[in-house]
Amino acid sequence: MRILSGIQPSGTLHIGNYFGAMKPAIELQEKGETFLFIADYHSLTTQPDAKDLRERVLNVAVDFLACGIDPEKTVFFRQSDIPEVTELTWILSTSTSTGLLERCHSYKDKVANGFTPNNGLFSYPVLMASDILMYHADLVPVGKDQKQHLEVTRDIAKSFNFRYKKEVFKMPKEQIQEHVALIPGTDGQKMSKSYNNTIEIFGGKKAIRKKFMKIETDSKGIEEAKDPDNCNIFNLYKFFATAEEQAELAAKYRAENIGFGYGHAKQELFEKMWDYFAPMREKREELLHNLDYVESILQKGAERARFEAEKTMETVRKVVGLR
Ligand code: ADP
Ligand code: TRP
Repeated sequence: MRILSGIQPSGTLHIGNYFGAMKPAIELQEKGETFLFIADYHSLTTQPDAKDLRERVLNVAVDFLACGIDPEKTVFFRQSDIPEVTELTWILSTSTSTGLLERCHSYKDKVANGFTPNNGLFSYPVLMASDILMYHADLVPVGKDQKQHLEVTRDIAKSFNFRYKKEVFKMPKEQIQEHVALIPGTDGQKMSKSYNNTIEIFGGKKAIRKKFMKIETDSKGIEEAKDPDNCNIFNLYKFFATAEEQAELAAKYRAENIGFGYGHAKQELFEKMWDYFAPMREKREELLHNLDYVESILQKGAERARFEAEKTMETVRKVVGLR
């Protein structure tokens, strides 16, 4: 079974991204042959500047490797290192009705949020279909917001196969990560860059500690009993601590007159988080001093992906009459 997913290089990694997207993506490599790529062509649709894009791509590569992508198990590459994907996008475009794309809500949402309605943004799902169909992926793990793009991918594959009377593409299935809990931010809402409530994973100890100290709580004093089940600090603690450690902290919350306040709870949470990411932080430092190695991994991944892409394109070019 081939598993494939793409990651948008969207900025500094926070705890929500890690538990919601990165950790599940890394765990995939134990489940089947995995292709994972950094979707830099897709990023162009929202028009970051060149320097910014280059930095973000490199950061995502370093972060994923630091957090556990094993290049021996995962074919890890940069989308734009496989230019065949743009060729396939063009060919698939001619089997895609504009009505199908007009129905996509991600385009409408992005335009409503102020992004320039360029043609790349409109045909974003065709590029995504091309990513998926190029490598004959069986399973595509994505967030809920991408479900429609998988439906579009199957529609495009069906139209193409029907038009050329040949089963060139197989139908991929999405795997929606419903089981992944939403990670709360410092204000208790979903942690998100758009809500300005994030806690970054990598960065200086002082700056990160400061983020933890910003977590909002009620105003109970240090001698009062507190409710762990309705506390933003405790909700985050659950992601880092064992059941036993959670029970211990919950007991301190519920006790009266022990001189335990929210400041202490924040400090415990911060220390847990700091230790949790310590090995990854160390690996990341190493990688940052060895960017040639990072690039060589991406190149090796691209070579493997390109081998598959060339095979697909040979068939496609022949079937459509370009050869
Ligand atoms: P942001 O909301 O900070 O802009 P992105 O939209 O770039 O984050 O999210 C990248 C990935 O991380 C997506 O797959 C998304 O589902 C996941 N993710 C982001 N925030 C959270 C969260 N608070 N809880 C769970 N998953 C999250
Ligand atoms: N659109 C996806 C997102 O924003 C990223 C992506 C691009 C992708 N191509 C893909 C995901 C192919 C899965 C398969 O998250």
